[in-house]
Amino acid sequence: MSAAAEYKKIRTAVFPVAGLGTRFLPATKDIPKEMMPLIDRPLIHHGVDEAVASGCSRVVFVTGQGKESICRYFEPSFELTALLRERGKAELADAVDSIYRLAEFHYAYQAKPLGLGHAVLCAEEFCRDEYFGLLLPDDVMIAEPTALSQLEAVREKYDGSVLCLEEVAPEDVSRYGIVDAEEIEPGVYRVRGLVEKPKREEAPSRLAIMGRYLLSPKIFKHLKNLKRGAGGEYQLTDAIASLLEEEPVYATIYKGQRLDCGVKEGWIAATVVKALEDEKLREIVLKAVEDFKAAHGA
Ligand code: UTP
Repeated sequence: MSAAAEYKKIRTAVFPVAGLGTRFLPATKDIPKEMMPLIDRPLIHHGVDEAVASGCSRVVFVTGQGKESICRYFEPSFELTALLRERGKAELADAVDSIYRLAEFHYAYQAKPLGLGHAVLCAEEFCRDEYFGLLLPDDVMIAEPTALSQLEAVREKYDGSVLCLEEVAPEDVSRYGIVDAEEIEPGVYRVRGLVEKPKREEAPSRLAIMGRYLLSPKIFKHLKNLKRGAGGEYQLTDAIASLLEEEPVYATIYKGQRLDCGVKEGWIAATVVKALEDEKLREIVLKAVEDFKAAHGA
């Protein structure tokens, strides 16, 4: 059988959700960051919607302490939906029911948030033999086809792990994993090296890794050999750098818009962008801005 005939699209999406969300304290003292709502649904629901739209039928959450509400959110709520139906709110009941039907949900546990690399390793039992998608729910992606599907198109052509890139401003390189890469077609790169949160003067490029990955199962071997990296955490970027010694890794600049909901400023901007996309909410936002200007003479 030829290699092309053996190609299998990914079916599993991994979501690490065990982090502390310190940049959102005190809001995240008792509510997981991933459960913060963007308009009418939590951040994590936006991510799962993208995974499903990309063809994934299995979702693995790497949860941790205090993240029980994420599991509850994706479980059936028979009492709530029965009550809604009793009260004639069948449409709302259907909307609630549709959540647990989105995919097959699985859970892995990260006892301590030791870093993204460590979180991904916790999901090994669910994807040890197959390529899988890794989605960081903080990055809400507005893209058609989905960002994950854009990565899949590169894997189908080149056969290897694929990273999602955005060109960032020079002053921002120290916030991201940055790649050293050779462009092999417009917007598609073969990765030569990676470095996590480099100093501006030491960064090999301005190509920053965003929160979508397509990873080869060989990554687990490299995650197991990881030593603590930047910030004292087990860094996924270091494991990908090590994977590069074994097999090629590709990257692509996604086409679309990224809403960085991991920081307050980004979350506010994302709420406004999502509201502007909705016809009814757009009017409310624009009126609020006009009223504010009138009241403050701005
Ligand atoms: P972040 O670093 O953006 O999230 O990780 P954080 O650590 O929760 O937030 P801050 O930096 O303290 O404000 C990206 C994703 O990876 C998960 C987080 O839950 C988030 O969804 N993560 C991070 C883990 O699951 N485990 C970890 O050890 C670290």
